Amino acid sequence: MRVCIVGCGHVGLVTGACLAERGHAVLGVDADASRVALLRRGKVPFHEPGLDRLVARHRRSGRLRFSGSIAEGVRFGEVVFICVPTPPRPDGSADLSFVEHVSRSIARALPGYRLVCEKSTVPVNTCDQVRATIAKYARKGADFDVASTPEFLREGRAVEDAMKPDRVVVGVETPRAEKILRELFRPFGAPIVATDIRSAELIKHASNSFLALKISYANALAAVCERVGADVMNVTRGMGLDARIGPQFLSAGIGYGGSCFPKDVRAFEAISRQLGYDFALLREVERLNREARERFVQRVEQQLWIVKDKTVGALGLSFKPDTDDVRESVALAVVRDLAGRGARVRAFDPQAMEAARRELRGVRGVRFCRRAADVFARADCVLILTEWPAFAKLDYARLKSRMAHPTILDGRNLLDPEALRRLGYTYRGVGRG
Ligand code: UDX
Repeated sequence: MRVCIVGCGHVGLVTGACLAERGHAVLGVDADASRVALLRRGKVPFHEPGLDRLVARHRRSGRLRFSGSIAEGVRFGEVVFICVPTPPRPDGSADLSFVEHVSRSIARALPGYRLVCEKSTVPVNTCDQVRATIAKYARKGADFDVASTPEFLREGRAVEDAMKPDRVVVGVETPRAEKILRELFRPFGAPIVATDIRSAELIKHASNSFLALKISYANALAAVCERVGADVMNVTRGMGLDARIGPQFLSAGIGYGGSCFPKDVRAFEAISRQLGYDFALLREVERLNREARERFVQRVEQQLWIVKDKTVGALGLSFKPDTDDVRESVALAVVRDLAGRGARVRAFDPQAMEAARRELRGVRGVRFCRRAADVFARADCVLILTEWPAFAKLDYARLKSRMAHPTILDGRNLLDPEALRRLGYTYRGVGRG
């Protein structure tokens, strides 16, 4: 089938490349001319494992092309996906002005029947607005359907998630739209959950908030484990083997970040409130998330007594491993907090240095190191803030001698406590007795 993707950011580009890989012809549209130029040269403007290979392959196969024109995209694609950003506004609600703008442009370009699918992360009811906007700006009697096709991609594993999804959710309101989307997604071999549009929109809110809730549950559990001398990793392993619970998203640490969970939990709480339901549980999820970070910073304080003028090594700045994304990164928040208390922070991240530098511009007391090993130099303690696999493979025996005091506070439970203690480190994880 012929597909147009409007918005070549993380969601749009991954979706487009994976649809091309499954045999469809895709035209990616982006308003940013320099991004389009870059993509036309086969370059991917952000870090996402495996994506550059897919983009290069289908640039060659001719199944993935790029343009700056929505009109061209709408002429080309029988199905048009809206994948533009929906950044949070100060009150936590999503800013939908890009979605509105794109809907208008699509309306003006409609050449005949088109299926317009909303894929950006949006509040429930947004498809109604998209439908109304297209109807308002299109010529009279224009033939189109709208649908909701929420994405569940994790950054860093987006290609894998998109190629082998657990399920594909399609929210539709006509048999024609359902037929088209079933055909489009059939090659992915996943169960297709076809629902009404509002249910599909809610599946996205409900899934992300539930995963955030699982993480906050694990973090609260960690606090209890610390008090009682138990190990949260043993507890969650024991829980996770119950098939009804499952082992994923039960890793305790310094809390969740990223462009989705914090925003989605807040948005779902706000939407529920607007609808007249007080979803207090979601506020608690958020509070526990903040608490996880604060407990960790308190632990650093306990360890150093006075933070001011101490040298603190920080390993990891991205919001999670395998990405250069620092949006709502808890790691970055910890670094900012400690620098604000007068610590001299030596920071390193395998991918996110540039983004972190931009984000921390103007924050005094942070020095960016060239290699992971450099953060250990004369450090009073080293913090693990993002669980990059490379940090587990460092030569801790050798690095110990570079530190002023060999102390590691592991905010992600990445390292083996016993192994480090044997090497002579003072080691503390999260929720580990
Ligand atoms: C998330 C969802 O997983 C995805 O389905 C959705 O559509 C987009 O949002 P993403 O934000 O890329 O994906 O990252 P994810 O892997 O879900 O991690 C989110 C945050 O939770 C990270 O900060 C991570 O470190 C943290 N996390 C995750 C934990 O603290 N503990 C866990 O057990 C799992």
